[in-house]
Amino acid sequence: MKGLVLSGGAGTRLRPITHTSAKQLVPVANKPVLFYGLEALREAGIEDVGIVVGDTRAEIEAAVGDGARFGLRVTYIPQEAPLGLAHAVLIAEDFLGDSPFVMYLGDNLLKEGVTRFVRRFDESRPDALILLQSVADPSAYGIAELDGAGRVARLVEKPSEPRSDLALVGVYLFTPAVFASVKTITPSARHELEITDAIQDMVDRGLRVEAHRVTGWWKDTGKLEDMLEANRLVLSTLTADLRGTLVDTTVEGPVQVGAGSVLTRCTVRGPAVVGADCRISDAYLGPYTSLSDGVVVEHAEIEHSIVLDRSRICHLGARMTDSLVGKDVVIAHSEAKPVAYRFMVGDASQIGIL
Ligand code: G1P
Repeated sequence: MKGLVLSGGAGTRLRPITHTSAKQLVPVANKPVLFYGLEALREAGIEDVGIVVGDTRAEIEAAVGDGARFGLRVTYIPQEAPLGLAHAVLIAEDFLGDSPFVMYLGDNLLKEGVTRFVRRFDESRPDALILLQSVADPSAYGIAELDGAGRVARLVEKPSEPRSDLALVGVYLFTPAVFASVKTITPSARHELEITDAIQDMVDRGLRVEAHRVTGWWKDTGKLEDMLEANRLVLSTLTADLRGTLVDTTVEGPVQVGAGSVLTRCTVRGPAVVGADCRISDAYLGPYTSLSDGVVVEHAEIEHSIVLDRSRICHLGARMTDSLVGKDVVIAHSEAKPVAYRFMVGDASQIGIL
């Protein structure tokens, strides 16, 4: 069995972070989302993985390389434009050949991994196996309607009037029978070849499409709230590992601090993770906070947030919460007159002030 990981896409719902960075490389608990998927495939015994890449190809390649450190052999498959998930399958045909494969959306996180579903697929040999989970906002996903016997009856991509709350999780298992379907379908209203439509075509052709419920948590990290929730879910399984230097600092609950970091006069209430070479002083780091490498925090309180490399957060008048801060960002109190807010903010940024 091969793996096909989709790591293109524009990441419009995570702007401005995605103006400069691939959405699949935004870290959750200080590890890029994409790496969780690659690890899950390896764990399921998969060694050959094709990664479909778009505009952010260089960045994805720099992060993943030849895949050796994941125990994988990685082949990059360039997609000229984000033309849809089914289009990604279409252009991967040469790589996939006659092998069955797991297609994994690079921005999806699945607590239980994919091993159980790969085994099930091997045993039951359907033409496709899809994973489903109930969601509160079905019109944001591909939705499956099941018949009385639990068989897949109908699949609709982002229905405005959903007739079921069962969302298609971004992990799909296929035999090469899917290729005929991705070649038959036409682009959707958002001008993409939808994998949802391709699976519907498989159902229409009388092929066997098996559906399984995902029991552990599942997150599509396409938007800020989901990213923060994924961070929360992963951090809730954190084990303590303190490598940096702690001076007059209190640590409660599971906390990780990377090598070379110095925390002075701080209270850290886990679960929280601080990367390498951070300088944190006179600060409170609350639960569900992830600080990447080289972050500086002085006289500030942060909780339930993700802060990326080398950003500085200093002398805040209030606690920072529910935030995703990009790389090399400065958020600081200023003594300059007139007393005022001063911003230099990228396109599509969002700032909430007191
Ligand atoms: C895609 C699929 C959708 C699926 C979702 C899972 O949506 O089109 O059917 O439910 O992934 O993450 P997109 O992220 O392209 O909006």
